[in-house]
Amino acid sequence: MLSDVRIAPSILSADLMCLGEELDSIKSADYIHFDVMDGVFVPNLTFGPTLLSQVKAASDLPVDAHLMISDPDRRVGAYLDAGADIVTFHYEAQLHALRTISLIKDRGAKAGIALNPGTPTSALECLIEDVDLVLVMSVNPGFSGQAFIRHTYDKLRQVRNMASEHGVAPLIEVDGGISAANAERVVRAGANLLVAGNAVFKADDRAAAIDDIRVAGRRGFGRWA
Ligand code: DX5
Ligand code: ZN
Repeated sequence: MLSDVRIAPSILSADLMCLGEELDSIKSADYIHFDVMDGVFVPNLTFGPTLLSQVKAASDLPVDAHLMISDPDRRVGAYLDAGADIVTFHYEAQLHALRTISLIKDRGAKAGIALNPGTPTSALECLIEDVDLVLVMSVNPGFSGQAFIRHTYDKLRQVRNMASEHGVAPLIEVDGGISAANAERVVRAGANLLVAGNAVFKADDRAAAIDDIRVAGRRGFGRWA
């Protein structure tokens, strides 16, 4: 069982021209959220395994790789080679999700499955016992700085109830539009790993921003509603 909420700043919102300093500024976080976009699955293009291995070399934090890419089977190996600690792919991008999950777990990493806002949580029924993490997208993936979609609260509740019915406890991650203002409520709904891009990297004091989200999230921790 987790003893606290976990915070994963997304370096999509960081200043990549000084990424080393940006990584130093988020040392109090629990993970580095690494958003991979291929320009096909989502209408934006970011970074790949070469930068991921440099991030691993520059930081002691585990890396949570969020693959917003088509055909992840072909690419997960490169992210595992680069040192990703969690590899999450999208349900919508993969025909043979259980095979992809095995590919990731066989390499000793944690496997996550992500759902777009328009994908119902029933998609997880046959997968939830096999994954280490469920990522509930609270924006349509592709860009940082978008507004949180409110039906995410219901989806988080559905995932958390499904997990307990199946007797499993995957990490439940929420990604998009998260800040100290909604952290308590997403945690009450079932999230325990909060991604934050703009709410951390657009703040002058990143440690304070991480702490604000963590403190707000803690108010909901263990108080499901
Ligand atoms: C969106 C990405 C998110 C994004 C979050 O496609 O998956 O991780 O960086 O950024 P904010 O927290 O600014 O919405
Ligand atoms: Zn993400």
